[in-house]
Amino acid sequence: MAKINTALLSVYLLIAFLVNSAHANSYSTLGHDDATPNGSNFTFVCDPERYSNMGLDMKTFPFCDKSLSYDARASDLVKQMTLSEKVLQLGNTNHGVRRLGLPKYEWWSEALHGVSNVGPGTFFDDLVPGATSFPTVITSAASFNESLWKTIGQAVSTEARAMYNLGRAGLTYWSPNINVVRDPRWGRAIETPGEDPYVVGKYAANYVRGLQDVEGTENSKDLNSRPLKVSSCCKHFAAYDVDNWKGVERYGFDARVTEQDMVETFLRPFEMCVKEGDVSSIMCSYNRVDGIPACADPKLLNQTIRGEWDLHGYIVSDCDSIEVLVDGHHWLGDTKEDAVAHTLRAGESFIKLLVL
Ligand SMILES: *[C@@H]1O[C@H](CO)[C@@H](O)[C@H](O)[C@H]1NC(C)=O
Ligand SMILES: *[C@@H]1O[C@H](CO)[C@@H](O)[C@H](O)[C@H]1NC(C)=O
Ligand SMILES: *[C@@H]1O[C@H](CO)[C@@H](O)[C@H](O)[C@H]1NC(C)=O
Ligand SMILES: *[C@@H]1O[C@H](CO)[C@@H](O)[C@H](O)[C@H]1NC(C)=O
Repeated sequence: MAKINTALLSVYLLIAFLVNSAHANSYSTLGHDDATPNGSNFTFVCDPERYSNMGLDMKTFPFCDKSLSYDARASDLVKQMTLSEKVLQLGNTNHGVRRLGLPKYEWWSEALHGVSNVGPGTFFDDLVPGATSFPTVITSAASFNESLWKTIGQAVSTEARAMYNLGRAGLTYWSPNINVVRDPRWGRAIETPGEDPYVVGKYAANYVRGLQDVEGTENSKDLNSRPLKVSSCCKHFAAYDVDNWKGVERYGFDARVTEQDMVETFLRPFEMCVKEGDVSSIMCSYNRVDGIPACADPKLLNQTIRGEWDLHGYIVSDCDSIEVLVDGHHWLGDTKEDAVAHTLRAGESFIKLLVL
């Protein structure tokens, strides 16, 4: 239980400061029972009119009290939730808690080289028929121009924020992909900044800062509650550059990596993403690293990302990677419930597409 509380706390801290930094807009179209409008110009949770439209009084919920610290607000929210309500917030589709006025939230949006509709959190329609598609990442990386990478990130997050304000995109983007490409047979090399760990790390830090930073608040005293334009995520952690090659596939693959190569090649860009980019999220990968599934390894997740690098944010699994732990890796003979417990204890905050 304590673990789940801690995990949720960090998730809600994040959502709290994202949501509070949103701009006000019109709520007039919000129906009485519609706590979760999709495509309805909805912008933030703690709005008194929104609460009264749902028949609730916002003043009775301390987590909506802006005079309290994010810590106090997040722990109040978590304390008010039952166990099953907490479980319902652990997937990429958070179901919300209507009695608390907590809306549904879809965590999965993507912006690899422009806002994309790959994730269910974003859609295009007549009002917003598309977003700018910048060149593929391997091409932008070949410019070796750090300020360009940041400028692209800024343009992408401006469009993302505009789409969020129109109810057509999320605030949490599972981009960039910063896996160092060691094997040219990997079909996703164009998604990445290439083969050089230093260039990859510099790309990550700049693109992430472009997406996330609100000018003038980058060096806030409390980096756990600085405002974010949108939340970015460096993925897939770690030693991951195979999908499926002649029957060797990512769901069962065990990457055998020397300690030196791990530190110098595969971890380095992620370290730069966290330390230089101050990214708000890291996604763990499907594969095992030296025998242990990346999403269940407390040394890789809690001790390295949180402990050594001091991540200000959340760790998320890849799609179904908890199920993959059970059905692909057959890790420790875990049931699906055991696998969830292992990943939360290893340091994950929530689980994408949990299938129980
Ligand atoms: C939101 O609405 C759009 C357009 O009707 C739809 O395509 C999309 O699936 C909906 N998203 C969610 C998360 O319900
Ligand atoms: C959202 O806002 C846009 C721009 O103001 C408007 O065209 C659209 O009709 C609004 N949608 C809803 C559902 O209110
Ligand atoms: C790098 O990109 C910036 C845009 O961010 C551009 O103004 C500048 O000219 C580029 N530098 C070079 C050497 O092309
Ligand atoms: C996670 O890391 C913190 C220190 O950063 C440590 O106190 C805690 O015991 C760790 N938990 C696990 C399960 O490794």
